[in-house]
Amino acid sequence: MSDTTVSATRVAAALLASWVLAFAAAAPRAQDERNPLAGTATAITKGKNIYRGRCGVCHGIDAKGYRGSDLTTGDWVHGGSDAQIFKTISKGVPGTEMPPHSNMSEEEVWMVIAYLRTLSAPGDAAPERGDAARGEQLFWAKASGNCGQCHMIGGRGGRIGPNLTRIGAARSVAALEREIRKPAEVIPVGFETLTVVTKDGRRIRGARKNEDTFSVQLMTANEDVLSFFKSDVQVTPEPEQSLMPAYGPERLNDTDLADVVRYLRSLRGTR
Ligand code: HEC
Ligand code: HEC
Repeated sequence: MSDTTVSATRVAAALLASWVLAFAAAAPRAQDERNPLAGTATAITKGKNIYRGRCGVCHGIDAKGYRGSDLTTGDWVHGGSDAQIFKTISKGVPGTEMPPHSNMSEEEVWMVIAYLRTLSAPGDAAPERGDAARGEQLFWAKASGNCGQCHMIGGRGGRIGPNLTRIGAARSVAALEREIRKPAEVIPVGFETLTVVTKDGRRIRGARKNEDTFSVQLMTANEDVLSFFKSDVQVTPEPEQSLMPAYGPERLNDTDLADVVRYLRSLRGTR
């Protein structure tokens, strides 16, 4: 190789390197990506329609939360950048009821985000009412809530009701209040109440854990999991009944309720 060829190669390599660097700096990294449709009126209108069709059933038609979380507080558990919200919507939140929306186009996801941005500003979250420390005492104390008899938090408690270790990430204040005052209104899958009557007349009540054509499994109040052949028993679903007692104001007054809900809202840990 002659000297001139070597230096020409070096120059070319240096040029290429600087060009690659410049290009890498210009290309946005995925986590910094901004919504290209942010603030666009037509995108916001279309996003609202998509939201109503696909998201309102869980997050509420006003996005203030129903089965899904409140999306209007500006407080994003799974990250509040455009790119993070994009990922939450398209990939879902594994292990929760938030489904992936892989069949939505990128443009549709950006439209929904443009709409969601009109509902809150970062740091908008109103301070929540209630005293979490007092709520925690009420939750565990036998004389008040005794909630831990049926619910597990961070490995402590019972299994008759759902694990609440990260319930604060999943449910709005309104949903938690409703759940405590009127548990039967929304019953999660796996916790539906069933009564089984055996041929010798024994009645067994519990939460449906599994069911197929021939058999049904339920968990009783003692946490025993029992399995029955449907041909041996009569199975009566009780869709209007929860295994959780309704806590009226005589058991938890409004201050107590706010404190318990504040405690639950603080629970965002891993399962
Ligand atoms: C089947 C019910 C369901 C549907 C449908 C649903 N979500 Fe969710 N979504 C949830 C639940 C439950 C959560 C809370 C996940 C958790 O426990 O962390 C959630 C969480 C989210 C979050 C995270 C909020 C945060 O604080 O970080 C966003 C954003 C979101 N959903 C947007 C949407 C959008 C947009 C749609 C429609 C395209 C949608 N969801 C459809 C149930 C649903
Ligand atoms: C005797 C058992 C029992 C007791 C006591 C009990 N629960 Fe429950 N809880 C359940 C069951 C079963 C469910 C699921 C069915 C339903 O939603 O009604 C449930 C559901 C819930 C949910 C909804 C979870 C979700 O995924 O949306 C919350 C929140 C909750 N309970 C909080 C409480 C609090 C707070 C207390 C005490 C004040 C309490 N529970 C006492 C059995 C119980």
